[in-house]
Amino acid sequence: MSQTKPFEIPCAELEQQELFAGKVLALNEDHLRKTGRRRLACTRTYGCQANVADGEKIRGILHEIGYEFTDEPDEADFILFNTCAVRENAEDRVFGNIGALAHLKKENPNLIIAVCGCMMQQEHIVEKIRKSYPYVGLVFGTHVVHRLPELVYRALTEHKRVFDSTQSDGVIAEDLPVVREEGSKAWLPIMYGCNNFCTYCIVPYVRGRERSREPDAILREARQLVADGYKEITLLGQNVNSYGKNLPQPIRFSQLLRMINDIPGDFRIRFMTSHPKDATRELIDTIADCDKVCNHLHLPVQCGSDEILRRMNRGYTCEQYLELVEYAKKRIPGLSLSSDIIVGFPGETYENFQGTLKLIEAVGYDLLYTFIYSKRVGTKAANYDDPVDPKEKSRWFRELLEVQAKIGRANFEGYVGQTARVLVDGTGKKEGMLTGRDEHNILVEFEGPPALIGSFADVKITQAHQAALVGSLKAPQDTEAEHNPRPSDSSADRIQ
Ligand code: 5AD
Ligand code: SF4
Repeated sequence: MSQTKPFEIPCAELEQQELFAGKVLALNEDHLRKTGRRRLACTRTYGCQANVADGEKIRGILHEIGYEFTDEPDEADFILFNTCAVRENAEDRVFGNIGALAHLKKENPNLIIAVCGCMMQQEHIVEKIRKSYPYVGLVFGTHVVHRLPELVYRALTEHKRVFDSTQSDGVIAEDLPVVREEGSKAWLPIMYGCNNFCTYCIVPYVRGRERSREPDAILREARQLVADGYKEITLLGQNVNSYGKNLPQPIRFSQLLRMINDIPGDFRIRFMTSHPKDATRELIDTIADCDKVCNHLHLPVQCGSDEILRRMNRGYTCEQYLELVEYAKKRIPGLSLSSDIIVGFPGETYENFQGTLKLIEAVGYDLLYTFIYSKRVGTKAANYDDPVDPKEKSRWFRELLEVQAKIGRANFEGYVGQTARVLVDGTGKKEGMLTGRDEHNILVEFEGPPALIGSFADVKITQAHQAALVGSLKAPQDTEAEHNPRPSDSSADRIQ
């Protein structure tokens, strides 16, 4: 079935929000006239990049309705937590942080404390906020971000708590304002929601059905980002490989990648997340062909046991996964791979876990993002028997980290002597040092002038550390020679 109108927000609703935006702006301007200072908002976002991208829209709207920003909760008039529900520890952190604000609300009864995001799409969590956190004045879920002007207006004027956790298959709201995080990297959502229902995962329940943005809207935004000087664009979706399948005019993710690659300018393209069940050879060929697409593939395998993969509802076997990796390694010289792993899925045995160790050794990932299974209310796996002691799971987890540390270390050693093109994003801990990420998203530290922050620098890698590479800045003339290598040099000395 192709994607039709249900996901689009009717124009009339967006126009109504503009009216509310005008009303809040007027209230905030009034506050400025009376007090001599603008109202300040302090926002915190937890969790994945999709949430970060939502947080940027929320800040865009807050800015539009007259708020300025502060990082200090105790000087804010509006504090917002944009929450993540993927694992229990993320939720615990949010509750801890909300709890710590009780005294601020006592000191300043006009303070609005707002909580939004994935956690607020879960009934039991909203109930807990309702009952145990009476000073939280505004609660809203992932499907109503575009209604923020109205919600803030009500919170400011109604003197009662405002809740909106509308359940929905999800929406697409184009043209919302965005205040991006500082720096030269931008997140660009290309699709929302997820239809995969991996049995451990809460995302499909809190972010609605899979829906793709129109390629024209994405390209317009990408062109604008390049024109604004962004040097790295990361295309976001829970499963980018199924991008465009349900659009009225279906299009494949690989086609979209090629279109973005054709935008003129010196920038690089990343994407996440790529679900192995939908990753194709065409995708690999596209990465190989497109000069701006980083030679890095984040391909979350989750575990290395076919039985557990089946019970996770992942839709591939270890053999299929390894076949694709094999093809990718052959097709893309210098490819860097990373993955997500869950340890201790309900019913996983030590033998199953050994399969994971075998698989990560066979692939040789540069980086792994590792998690202990966290039970999520409402998911299928929450009903599975989970007999293994948490302490035992922690032992397996530590074993995984040790094995990966060796693999990563050996890979990192392999980068020594190569030249990495680093997008410089800040200063290091030691004076005079800069940090940035190479095209594999590996942290690189080197000595250099702060003027380089926000641009690309060629860095000769000299040392490999546990979680970072260390190098020295190449003089521009060396760099030039390398940018024009003799044919026989090919790209042997370059990481990318
Ligand atoms: N427990 C532990 N890890 C999880 N992830 C998703 N859901 C859970 C869960 N219930 C991990 C997966 C996913 C990453 C974003 O988070 O590895 O790829
Ligand atoms: Fe969760 Fe699976 Fe969807 Fe990823 S693909 S968001 S792990 S359900």
